[in-house]
Amino acid sequence: MDKKDGSQLIRGLEGVVAAETKLCDLDGKNGRLAYCGYDIADLARQATFEEVCHLLWHGELPAAVQLDKTTLALIAAREIPRELLQTFRLMPKATDPMRALQAAVAMLGMHDPDATDNAHAANLRKAVRLTSQLATAICAHHRIRSGQEPVAPASDLSHAGNFLYMLTGARPSAVVTKAFDASLTLYAEHELNASTFTTRVITSTQSDLHSAVAGGLGALKGPLHGGAGEAVMRTLLEIGEVANVDAFSDKALAEKRRLMGFGHRVYTAGDPRAAILKGLAEEACRQSGQFKWFEMAVKLHARINAAKKLIPNVDFYSAPLFYSLGVPVDLFTPVIATGRIAGWTANIVEQHDDNRLIRPRGDYVGAGRRPFVPLGQRGA
Ligand code: CMC
Repeated sequence: MDKKDGSQLIRGLEGVVAAETKLCDLDGKNGRLAYCGYDIADLARQATFEEVCHLLWHGELPAAVQLDKTTLALIAAREIPRELLQTFRLMPKATDPMRALQAAVAMLGMHDPDATDNAHAANLRKAVRLTSQLATAICAHHRIRSGQEPVAPASDLSHAGNFLYMLTGARPSAVVTKAFDASLTLYAEHELNASTFTTRVITSTQSDLHSAVAGGLGALKGPLHGGAGEAVMRTLLEIGEVANVDAFSDKALAEKRRLMGFGHRVYTAGDPRAAILKGLAEEACRQSGQFKWFEMAVKLHARINAAKKLIPNVDFYSAPLFYSLGVPVDLFTPVIATGRIAGWTANIVEQHDDNRLIRPRGDYVGAGRRPFVPLGQRGA
């Protein structure tokens, strides 16, 4: 519908191009995705998450010396303030981890030496610090809510390995670390998805990086976005056994139920991340002795695709993958944030460097102009 001034209503901003970016090249028709020109499959298989962070923050893959510098900076930033640990102890035990994380990011902003400095160099320093601290905060909050002491970060482990170590207290195997590292890379960046767009909207007001990331977390949490992974696992748990997939699918289709982990606004030919995660999930489920979750997912995928032509998105196969790696179901979305923060912060830097206030219009469909009625004359 066109507005009186000639502007057009586009529900959900579908198909609207709202920014130029050098970070992510998403070809939805052909199911292709690249960060700064590098295909996602190559990055997931051959690069570490630290290399991907460097790529997104600086636009180029790092040479060995540059990678050392970025890696050491990330390691040096892993500690979180004592006051934040204390705050986690004071939170109601049932606080959902994404809410705790939003509060943690706000608090980390209070402690950050560059808190309100929006210069390019300051934003890069904050990107490094918050990427590390976010991982530590997720694990510390989880341990405290489960009645355990937080595990101090290990400086000899990679970002992915250290996350799993801080979560469980046990050093993960190389195979498990690689699968987790690759999934962080697959989640690291995805153009103007809802949470990244949120970080850009906040940034466009010249607000600061921590405020933008806290907003991004709020957007990510919803089940139509990052919360879908957790919902997929709850669906698989509800199905329970491979033999129940057909009956579940028939009922869900008959009830026109929205099936989490299926469908995508941009990809029509398939989500390339789902194909890679499928392979990682197969391996991880087999290794952990929990192959049934993978089998169940494959069967559900086939049934739903045959019935509705819906494609599985990134959050579908990451669910059995994370579950078999021992990640608690309500930490799936925080784990997605652990990867996506690389892209959020890169988008924040890009937006600050070439900013214009993001301010769309609304199409007013309410009552026409009418005379004001004083309170005493409005009836019961
Ligand atoms: N289950 C059942 N039907 C679906 C689904 C689904 N998952 N996805 C789309 N449809 C149907 C929908 O009912 C509608 O049918 P009709 O035209 O007959 O009413 C049609 O497809 C278009 O759906 P839409 O909701 O208007 O499309 P959209 O572009 O706004 O939705 C989506 C995209 C991702 C919100 C949607 O596919 C969905 O809700 N998926 C489930 C949640 C999910 O997996 N989210 C993760 C998205 S990918 C990762 C991320 O961004 O974080």
